[in-house]
Amino acid sequence: MSEIAKIEIEGKQYEFPVVTGTENEKAIDISKLRSSTGYITLDPGYKNTGATTSSITFLNGEEGILKYRGYSIEDLAEKATFLEVAYLLIYGDLPNKSELDVFTATITKHTLVHEDMKQFFEAYPAKAHPMGVLSSMVCSLSTFYPESLDPNRSHEAKDLTMMRLIAKLPTLAAWSYKNAMRHPFMYPKNDFDYCENFLHMMFAMPTEEYKVDPVVVNALNKLLILHADHEQNCSTSTVRIVGSSQANLFASISAGISALWGPLHGGANQAVIEMLERIHQDGGDIDKWVEKAKDKDDSFRLMGFGHRVYKNFDPRARIIKKACDDVLDKLNIEDPLLDIAKKLEKVALEDEYFKDRNLYPNVDFYSGIIYRALGIPTEMFTVMFALGRLPGWVAQWKEMTENKEPIGRPRQIYTGIVKREFVELEKR
Ligand code: ACO
Repeated sequence: MSEIAKIEIEGKQYEFPVVTGTENEKAIDISKLRSSTGYITLDPGYKNTGATTSSITFLNGEEGILKYRGYSIEDLAEKATFLEVAYLLIYGDLPNKSELDVFTATITKHTLVHEDMKQFFEAYPAKAHPMGVLSSMVCSLSTFYPESLDPNRSHEAKDLTMMRLIAKLPTLAAWSYKNAMRHPFMYPKNDFDYCENFLHMMFAMPTEEYKVDPVVVNALNKLLILHADHEQNCSTSTVRIVGSSQANLFASISAGISALWGPLHGGANQAVIEMLERIHQDGGDIDKWVEKAKDKDDSFRLMGFGHRVYKNFDPRARIIKKACDDVLDKLNIEDPLLDIAKKLEKVALEDEYFKDRNLYPNVDFYSGIIYRALGIPTEMFTVMFALGRLPGWVAQWKEMTENKEPIGRPRQIYTGIVKREFVELEKR
């Protein structure tokens, strides 16, 4: 017999079905709660609310497990390429050789952006944050592909829009950096793979080729895979909720990029490095900064620590910490910020405040140090996160449209004034 949950309200019992996921996760389906009881649930920050069922990503925060379509993140980070993972997330299975060849060729073919878009870049001030530029540019793509506005197109037409976006995001990301530097834009080169091409557009100059270092390419590939999806986080929920109004893919992903920008979400990678630099410049007194983070009257938080879902450890942080050591070692770089980060982690993990609240380093704690080692400027870190997260957002948008999910529209409990008489301006 299927499970049911009983809720008693004002002496009357109501029954609601229990939904069980393939990993035995349980939810009470309260979709009929309001129509049968008149009540709604109140859950600020959606800490206990499942907004959808999804077959893309599974994570277990208590045990530190993360899987994309059933494959462990450890295996994928070790053995796959970013485009294989993108295909897996979007289409549900790892591609065979010919599927991957077609997918890669399609993406490679669409890496150029329309020449007119160069003028948009040039109109931004040099100090524009690249996340602001990226979000606007992605939304602007919709103006170049008006056919993408129709949500009821064929699968083939939707696929083309998804491929275009995956192909063009590295170009837009690299150009947002070139624009800030007031350096000439570098065009994509089709004989490079996805990661090489991005590095070429970031670092090559018309006068100077960029020598692709396999250590850097491998590290970037791994970082993008680790960021590729993370079920219903703030930016992904934004993509799904914007898409649920039948807004086009470019507009939905642009909104996701904006949501990612905040320092409590993807913007934490930039905030971590700024924090480590601050601690370094201040003399490196770790205990002082840990005390500040614990002080409720001080707004300072240990950036890169804590997670809404992971309450044991973030499996991505483990992989990144190791990759960080490898990259710095192979590139022969000594970074004082890495030493501070390691000391900070040690002190915090032994501290009762952090232990009691299950606060562990998250994916952003070490990723910034690798990005620095790869030569990526601090303001580009969250852009790197967006590059990695794109296939996840695309897969989630596709799933949401294919499931024909209803428009997202939470309710509220009104706590304002009940009734007022209007008073003419001169009498107020
Ligand atoms: N430093 C100090 N204290 C913290 C931190 C931190 N980084 N994170 C949480 N706490 C404390 C809170 O003050 C709170 O303490 P209290 O119970 O005494 O009031 C308790 O831990 C629970 O924290 P909440 O903010 O309620 O947890 P929530 O799930 O809402 O927030 C979040 C999670 C936003 C990630 C939070 O831990 C944080 O701000 N971390 C720093 C920013 C960061 O690294 N963000 C990246 C997250 S990963 C990602 O999005 C890719």
